[in-house]
Amino acid sequence: MKLKQHIVLIGPMGAGKSTIGRFLSEQMSCQFTDIDKVIEQQAGASIPWIFEIEGEQKFRERETTALRHVIADQPSVIATGGGCVMSAENQHILNSQAVTIYLVTSIEQQLERTAKDKNRPLLQTDDPKKVLEELANKRNPVYESLADISVTTNSKPPKVVAQEILTRL
Ligand code: S3P
Repeated sequence: MKLKQHIVLIGPMGAGKSTIGRFLSEQMSCQFTDIDKVIEQQAGASIPWIFEIEGEQKFRERETTALRHVIADQPSVIATGGGCVMSAENQHILNSQAVTIYLVTSIEQQLERTAKDKNRPLLQTDDPKKVLEELANKRNPVYESLADISVTTNSKPPKVVAQEILTRL
């Protein structure tokens, strides 16, 4: 399938954006790009390092630069980080230049999928559930307002979710 527009996966940490995005791109025979990976490549450093040494603000600047860069390239399937939707510029980019797919996921599923992962600085706390709940309160309305399509991912295999997205595009 020749893509006319970028397909951008949005949603919280542990929603499965990268895994589902990869399956989706395979099924559509198009390129897959993970914004977090682009940030790491451009910085030459890991996300935990960027948060610790440069701070979250600088990470957010890097995130916007990476999104701008990827959107300017040929249409592809793109996975974003959970907080990518929170800047006005990124919202404008997503609204005007992408089909946006919101992966809706429960806090329980997010906790299960992120429990052993040390690569998410925002969850390195005694109470990751509380952090995820606070982020959900702030971000879920934004995900909803940006979404062209919303798909629930809870306990569904990533391939099944990718197939569901394909049928709804
Ligand atoms: C973040 C989500 C992460 C990553 C960074 C910040 C967030 O990506 O961008 O740790 O603010 O929710 P994933 O959603 O892929 O975990």
